[in-house]
Amino acid sequence: MEPRPGWTERYPELAGVVASFSDHDCDGFEDNPGRLAQCLSGWLPSLAERHALVSLPTMTEGATAVAASTLPETRATDMPGRKRLQAGAFTAALLPLSEPVIDWCCGKGHLARTLAARCPSQVTGLEWDESLVVDGNRLARQYQDRVTLRSQDVMAADLRLAPDSHGVALHACGDLHRRLIRRASEDGLSRVSFSPCCYHLTATEFYQPLSDRVNGCEEALNLQRAELRLAVQETVTAPARVRSQTAQVSCWRLGFDGLQRELREVDDYLPVPSHPAHLAGGDFEGFCRWAAGKKGLSLPAETDFARWQRHGERRFAQVRRHELVRHLFRRPLELWMVLDYALFLEEQGYEVKLGTFCERALTPRNLLVDAIRVCGNPPAQHSHP
Ligand SMILES: C[S@@+](CC[C@H](N)C(=O)[O-])C[C@H]1O[C@@H](n2cnc3c(N)ncnc32)[C@H](O)[C@@H]1O
Repeated sequence: MEPRPGWTERYPELAGVVASFSDHDCDGFEDNPGRLAQCLSGWLPSLAERHALVSLPTMTEGATAVAASTLPETRATDMPGRKRLQAGAFTAALLPLSEPVIDWCCGKGHLARTLAARCPSQVTGLEWDESLVVDGNRLARQYQDRVTLRSQDVMAADLRLAPDSHGVALHACGDLHRRLIRRASEDGLSRVSFSPCCYHLTATEFYQPLSDRVNGCEEALNLQRAELRLAVQETVTAPARVRSQTAQVSCWRLGFDGLQRELREVDDYLPVPSHPAHLAGGDFEGFCRWAAGKKGLSLPAETDFARWQRHGERRFAQVRRHELVRHLFRRPLELWMVLDYALFLEEQGYEVKLGTFCERALTPRNLLVDAIRVCGNPPAQHSHP
């Protein structure tokens, strides 16, 4: 969006160093942000602390324990391979489970069925998509799993959970996992364990910290929804073909951006909606014609598409280098939010463990918050945000 992001003016030397990286340097640094942080700490000294700040304990006890908690492929009907392994690793990290278990936003119940194999009592799943509930209950019956999925909007104001239950959520998005955290404290759940994702999927424009500690801190970050998105912008699990197609379309978008700025005589970014998949198989000119149509711009007959395509490629090289710096802040940003959740739960009488339940290659959303209630009765009711 910005050819010269604000930080390049505030840290011109840092911007100069990144601009001097070769494509080969970029390849290496993209795969190893720790090394990049060390390399750039001469220009931004706090980066030297990054590694220590983002290092977390692993919460599973090795591959054998994970394998013992993963459903065999023969029982994993409709379950994508990654999901099967994620659910297994997540389950292994929570053993022994506290009962009864509630799977929050359970989808088709893949996690619920995985948990049920390690849990003597019934697992209940809550999901608002009726078709997933029906499919999930059918699978549970077929495999005789002790699982019941219930049709439920988890955001419903009148939803209450049994106080002694163990609320569990694997990859429930923004407001959904935040609602689980609030429900846990308001209903006095004995335990709540979740792996958050999609922090930016929230009804509010700015991140609303949960904990008193962050709310009372004058230096707390004030994060817009678009900034929250940074925490989940990662393609580590995308195959090489998808990555290279994404790079090509990014070049085209940046080329079109240069062209539209000149045509409109306005030096501002113009958001272009997501493109239909078939365009990626076409060429730059086709992309520009589609984008211009979407934005109500007419392209002059003499448009020099080759020139704007080169412009896009140059900008892409620059954006790639800027993103190296930007992406160093993804994990710290994610952790900042998750630590706010952990602090809130501590304030509500829980003892909280924070760590990872699997390698980043299996899912970059690999954080796990596991909170066990240690203090007395459920606290007084709070109002929902
Ligand atoms: C990212 S999926 C996670 C599914 C499951 N936990 C898993 O890992 O396979 C999020 C699920 O939340 C469900 N969902 C979204 N909003 C909901 C709501 N308000 N109440 C209940 N379920 C909801 C979606 O239908 C979807 O199945």
